[in-house]
Amino acid sequence: MDKVELFENERAQDYNHFVETWIPNYHYFLDCLPKLLRETSSKDLLAVGCGTGNEIERFVKTPEEWKITGIDPSPEMIKQAKNNLGDYKNITLIEGVTSDLSVENKYSVAMLLLVLHFFEDNGDKLNLLKTIADRLISGAILIMLDITGSKTQLKQNLEILKFLLPRRLSEEQISSRLQRIENELYSVSEERLSELCQEAGFEQPLRFFQSSIYMGWMVKKKRL
Ligand SMILES: C[S@@+](CC[C@H](N)C(=O)[O-])C[C@H]1O[C@@H](n2cnc3c(N)ncnc32)[C@H](O)[C@@H]1O
Repeated sequence: MDKVELFENERAQDYNHFVETWIPNYHYFLDCLPKLLRETSSKDLLAVGCGTGNEIERFVKTPEEWKITGIDPSPEMIKQAKNNLGDYKNITLIEGVTSDLSVENKYSVAMLLLVLHFFEDNGDKLNLLKTIADRLISGAILIMLDITGSKTQLKQNLEILKFLLPRRLSEEQISSRLQRIENELYSVSEERLSELCQEAGFEQPLRFFQSSIYMGWMVKKKRL
């Protein structure tokens, strides 16, 4: 059974404003995605925890024809994705979790953006990565964006994050958000993320992006 971090009410309604405020270079990161994946031979993409569909949106205007499945367990998030992207014939949006998808259907690319840090490293992170790996062809690419870093690295990068946040935020807003990141989310070190990926059936991940605490990873499913 997949663990779920449900986004609802204000957290869902305010989501796009929230990420723009708190994740420096979020749009730059999303803009990189179609460029990074341009050369993949097959264009079947699975967006796990697609939320309001921000990552999927980047693929609708590319010259390459992508076939995209977005899945998210939060009704309010997937509803927003459907409002934004429901008219595109090549996009399927599903309310659910990855294990709901048949393993018979394999994808050549998957994205897992801003999801893994809600999962504890008690088997939940590994389970999610394995569930995704089971639905990918061998050699498929998984792109992740996640809060990553050892305790010391996280502390140092939270200090950097403070400088990059909009000036309109109050000190109280900033300190309560930073405390939540440090004490309530489940970030792991780069080494641990690498171990988890390899245990789940992927190769060693490559870090291609970093903006303070947020790191972007590209990892290939091992070839059998
Ligand atoms: C921070 S949002 C990220 C949304 C989107 N990927 C983005 O980058 O804007 C996290 C999303 O993960 C979803 N989520 C929670 N548990 C999940 C699970 N077990 N499988 C897939 N998605 C999940 C939430 O509903 C939420 O929409």
